[in-house]
Amino acid sequence: MGKEEVIDSYEGNYNIAADLPVREDFTWKTIESHFSWSDTGKVNMVYESVDRHVADGYGEKIALHYFGEAEEYTLTYRELKEKSDLWATVLKNKGVKKGDFVFVFLEKHPDCHIAMLAAIKLGAIVGPLFEAFMEDAVKERIADCEGTYLIASPELIKRVPREELPSLQTVWITGEPEQCNGDEISLYAEARATQAEEGITEWVDLNHGLNIHYTSGSTGRPKGIIHAHRAMIQQYITGRWVLDLKDDDVYWCTAHPGWVTGTVYGVFAPLLNRATIVIHGGRFDADEWYSVLEKAGVTVWYSAPTAYRMLMAKGDEKLTNYDLSKIRHILSVGEPLNPEVIRWGIKTLSRRIHDTWWMTETGAQLIVNLPTERIVPGSMGKPFPGVEAVILDEAGKELLPGKVGHLALKANWPAIMREVWKDPAKYETYFPFEGWYVSGDLATMDENGYIFFQGRSDDMINSSGERIGPFEVESKLMEHPAVAEVGVIGKPDAVRGEIVKAFIVLKSGYETSEALLQELRQFVRKGLAAHASPKEIEFMEELPKTPISGKILRRELKAKELEKVGV
Ligand code: WT7
Repeated sequence: MGKEEVIDSYEGNYNIAADLPVREDFTWKTIESHFSWSDTGKVNMVYESVDRHVADGYGEKIALHYFGEAEEYTLTYRELKEKSDLWATVLKNKGVKKGDFVFVFLEKHPDCHIAMLAAIKLGAIVGPLFEAFMEDAVKERIADCEGTYLIASPELIKRVPREELPSLQTVWITGEPEQCNGDEISLYAEARATQAEEGITEWVDLNHGLNIHYTSGSTGRPKGIIHAHRAMIQQYITGRWVLDLKDDDVYWCTAHPGWVTGTVYGVFAPLLNRATIVIHGGRFDADEWYSVLEKAGVTVWYSAPTAYRMLMAKGDEKLTNYDLSKIRHILSVGEPLNPEVIRWGIKTLSRRIHDTWWMTETGAQLIVNLPTERIVPGSMGKPFPGVEAVILDEAGKELLPGKVGHLALKANWPAIMREVWKDPAKYETYFPFEGWYVSGDLATMDENGYIFFQGRSDDMINSSGERIGPFEVESKLMEHPAVAEVGVIGKPDAVRGEIVKAFIVLKSGYETSEALLQELRQFVRKGLAAHASPKEIEFMEELPKTPISGKILRRELKAKELEKVGV
């Protein structure tokens, strides 16, 4: 290894430094004393995130600050408590109880936060759905859980194929009665006509189900990863030490709660830390984002490399139009953070960008760059206190520094998934060696414990930090009448990390054409989701296959593609 570039930490009054005694004798158990349940024995993540702050005298603090297209407003912690109590009562009146699934299909909007909190208050397992999902993606998830309850917006309900979802009994719309069709219930009207039940919070045990997020792998359909209320221990302390959230922070996590980052670090961690959350609707737009950062006075910002690269690509002149001097801490997650992006952050914002690594399955950050530590650009950072990371070979033997192997973690952190829904065999595959969680990522570690991402050990695609299973995209394309065979891979891309590329063999009678190409793209976009739609399609005469089983060799397709781009 050559000499590593290092960027020293800035002077600052960081939580992790203030808490040094706790960190020195760190055990997860020590962190439990922060929670009211360590005294009362009464557990509910939402109580710790909202109600207790009101009880502690912080009711008038702003919890949510919403920047919408047509409106801007704030909700205090007291208002968030009252609203979530009220919506919980509405849900309970229709039978929602402990352990039920409640799906939430809403835009980035305070309603989404309130709906999630209301469901969790009742001990239900909340299933937030990404706002860009189309019919198939929505149907698959709700059907897999035989979901009975759904909260959707007037816009997004149009993408819920009710006739194909017989399990779905109750659908609330975040709108007025005139915006509802058939048996849909207006959540707003119902809430107006309801009196919040006193003490509606259901107490649960720490291992009780909290939320479900579907996530893709290289094979099969997306799997439902269920987390438990115990995740709050790690979500709180990483919020405190990694995000460095303090009482006066205005915090913006740009992810939608349909992705685990949007739930854990967009909703739970900031509320557990009593910060103010900024919510901004819509997807990426450089001017819009800079203007939100300025208007909201964002102090802590958590986003993804693709977004930072897109901002970078827009040019630094844009930045001079905005006052972003309030930003004091920046973080990144989801894909490799290029050293150039870190250098850009220092040059333009005078801030380091702190990479963090974790996965849907891990429930919270595991490999991080603490604000007090040196950053080695190109590295994802070091294990969070209490986390033990190793690089293993195929036999589960620990590798020496600098050697590429499987990134594995001692399976003892509180936020680790509770189960893979209906698939215990899949769950077991994460633990091939006694006591270790094997991530599926390949990595190296240097002598100082810094970990460097090297790629995936499977065919999973990561485009703009969004995890895409090639199988899902292939299955969708196979439904198109023109498609005989298809293989899908992630092709390296300077801005998005990877893009989805499909290799397609057409059925006889079909001709390759630009029109067909567009149609196939639209087919995935409309059926599954825009981010899963292949940006590139190449028509082939045949696809490489394994000799005996005849399985399509994605690896070979990928190798060819890498050769072409010279990687
Ligand atoms: C996969 C997990 C929960 C975080 C958002 C993504 C990749 C994640 C990094 C990083 C390089 C990263 C890994 C991982 N990934 N963070 N800092 N550097 N790669 O969660 O959708 O479950 O995806 O994202 O490959 O396995 P996810």
